[in-house]
Amino acid sequence: MICLSLTGASLKENLSQIERYREYIQIGELRADFLRPEEYASITDFPELTDLPLILTIRKRCDGGHWDGSEVERLNLIEASLKGKFTMVDLEEDLPPQKWEEAWCEGGGRIVRSFHDFKSVPEDLIERMKRLPRSPFEIAKAAVMPNNTSDLLNIFKAAEALKGREKILLGMGDIGLPTRLLSRRMGCLLTFSSAVGTQAAPGQLDPETMERVYHFSRIDDATKLYGIIGDPVMHTRSPLIHNGGYEKHGLNALYLPFQIDQPGIFLDWAYSAGFLGFSVTVPHKQVVIPLLSDSDSAVDEVGSCNTLLRTKAGWHGFNTDVFGFLSPLVVKMGEAGLKGLTVAVIGAGGAARAVVYALVKEQAIVTIYNRTLSRAEALALDFGVSARLLDDGREMEYADLIVQTSVVGMAPHYPGNPISQYPFSGSEIAYDIIYSPEKTDFLDKAGKAGCDVIGGMDMLKAQGAAQFRLFTGEDL
Ligand code: ATR
Repeated sequence: MICLSLTGASLKENLSQIERYREYIQIGELRADFLRPEEYASITDFPELTDLPLILTIRKRCDGGHWDGSEVERLNLIEASLKGKFTMVDLEEDLPPQKWEEAWCEGGGRIVRSFHDFKSVPEDLIERMKRLPRSPFEIAKAAVMPNNTSDLLNIFKAAEALKGREKILLGMGDIGLPTRLLSRRMGCLLTFSSAVGTQAAPGQLDPETMERVYHFSRIDDATKLYGIIGDPVMHTRSPLIHNGGYEKHGLNALYLPFQIDQPGIFLDWAYSAGFLGFSVTVPHKQVVIPLLSDSDSAVDEVGSCNTLLRTKAGWHGFNTDVFGFLSPLVVKMGEAGLKGLTVAVIGAGGAARAVVYALVKEQAIVTIYNRTLSRAEALALDFGVSARLLDDGREMEYADLIVQTSVVGMAPHYPGNPISQYPFSGSEIAYDIIYSPEKTDFLDKAGKAGCDVIGGMDMLKAQGAAQFRLFTGEDL
C-alpha cells in the first residue's frame, strides 16, 4: 500500500491532498502535528470526510515531528481524536502503556509501534524490531537513516530476517530511497509518501511519482530488478527512461536509483538478491572493473564500464557509451562511415578516452587537443593518434568533425566555449557530448556558422537504448 502522509496545516488542505492523489493511495496518515491548534477539535470528524482508511500520528520534535505542545496535551489529543474512525494509531516505542489502548484495539483498531532514528541505522535493528509489538494488535515500524551502503544493506538484511512478520521498515534520505520503493518485496505493510512540495520525512516521494515512474502497485515477487549505481544519482533521468520502456513492452520489471559509496559490497548483495542488471555512473565506472567476472573489449580498452549484466559467473561489464557516441554519427554519415574522416577531439579526460577509442575503431584520423598537453599525449599514445596543445581554438587545423569532450560548456559550473576563437568554415560536423545544456556555446556558434551539429542528448539516449537492449532484449 502507498500511504500518503497528510502534511497540511488544516484539515481542508489535507482533504485536497487526498483528492489530488486518491487514485494512487490506499491509506492516509493524518500527521496532526502539522495542523494548526484551532483544527484539533475537528480531528475526530476527519475520517468521516473521506473513504480513505487513516492512521493517526502526532509526532514529537525529538522523533522528527512538529508537535510543540506538552506530552500530556499530546496524549490527551490522541485519546480524544481516536473517538473518530481511525484505522490505526502510531505510538512510539518508549511510550508507557495507555489505559485506552486495549479497549481501542478490541474495537478493531491497530497500533503502529514505531521508532525513528534520523542519524543512523541501529546495530540491533532486527532485535529492536522484534521487541516492538506489545500485542498481536501492534505492527512494528522503524524509520532509520542509512549513511552509507553497509547501512542500506543492513536494512534489507533486517527485512529478510523479519520475513513473515507484520512490519513497516524503511530507510530515510536519498540512500534509503530504494527501501521505500521495494517495501512490498521487503514484506512491509505499507510505504509512506507525501504531496509534492512537502515532506513528512526525508526521502519521501509523492504518490504519483511512485506509481507513474516506478509502477509501485505492480511490484511483486516476480518483478525483475534493475538499477543505477552512482553517487550522486538522484538527479538521473534513467529510472524514467528504463521504467517507461518496461511499461511500453509490458515487462514486469523495476529500475531503481542506488546512491552507493561501496560498490563492492553492494554488487555482492545485489547478485545474491537476484538483481539482473545495473547502469553505472560517476564515480564508479572505473572502480567496478575489478569486480567483473567478464567484460567486453570496450570496457578493457576504454577502462570504463557503464553497464552490468548478471550472468551465471557474476557481473559481465559493458560500455554502451562507445556505442552511444557513435550511433548519432553513424546516422549522419550513412554508408560513408567514419573511415578517413579527420577528427579533432577537444579534451583528454575519461570521456575523451571512450570517444577516441570509438573513432579509432571506425578508422577516423584523430588529433587530441587538450589544455594540458601531457594528458593529450598520454591518451594519444594509447591509441596511436596525434596530440596538440589547446589554447583558444585559433591554433586548430580544419577537421571534418570536431568532438567536444571537455567539461567546458557544462551547466551550471563550467560556462564558456573551449575553442571560442576557432574559425568554423561551416562544413565541419560539431559534436558536443555535454547534454546539459542541450545546446552549448560551442554548438551554438558552430550551428550559426552553418555546421551540422550533434548534441549530447542524442548520445545519452543511444547509450540508454543500448543498455535497455542488453537488459531486456527489446528496443527502447
Ligand atoms: P571526464 O572524465 O568527464 O572527461 P576529466 O577527466 O576531469 O573529466 O576531464 C576534463 C577535461 O576537461 C580535461 O580534458 C580537462 O583539461 P585538462 O586535462 O587540461 O585538465 C578539460 N578542461 C577542464 N577545464 C578546462 C578549461 N577551462 N579549458 C579547457 N579544457 C578544460
